[in-house]
Amino acid sequence: MEKYSVFDCTVVELDKHHSDRKGNLTVVENGVTLPFDVKRVYYLYDVPGGENRGSHAHKELSQLIIAASGSFTVTLDDGKCKRSFFLNRPYQGLYVKPGLWRDLEDFSSGAVCMVLASDVYLKEDYIRDYQEFLEFRQS
Ligand code: TYD
Repeated sequence: MEKYSVFDCTVVELDKHHSDRKGNLTVVENGVTLPFDVKRVYYLYDVPGGENRGSHAHKELSQLIIAASGSFTVTLDDGKCKRSFFLNRPYQGLYVKPGLWRDLEDFSSGAVCMVLASDVYLKEDYIRDYQEFLEFRQS
């Protein structure tokens, strides 16, 4: 499988439907928005101030990470370079390609981190040890 760098990951502008009277609506649709189909959605919320999430890599999973409410920072790491993205707009998503370490931190009060994932939950797709991640990157 191709090894992606942090520079292959970008913030995607999502479809936003605005109504002065009724507010906003954003759509993510399989086959339209992303180069992968969404098989699973999960979200992080009630993250206590100062607490971090993530600290792992996925071997094959692709994800779109959205600050559905509030804000937080996602730092991606390809073993050589790190790149941080501050997410605070529900109509933007960070497209995270496979094989990258990620750390999520600086959650604002009330932040909701919604993750759209290309596959179901597979424990064997996780790398939770940073040394093992570096070896995976070099393999
Ligand atoms: P974990 O991956 O440790 O969360 P984070 O990396 O964001 O800190 O997941 C926390 C718990 O939730 C862990 O016991 C696994 C479980 N979990 C599922 O059962 N299904 C899922 O889709 C996800 C993402 C986690």
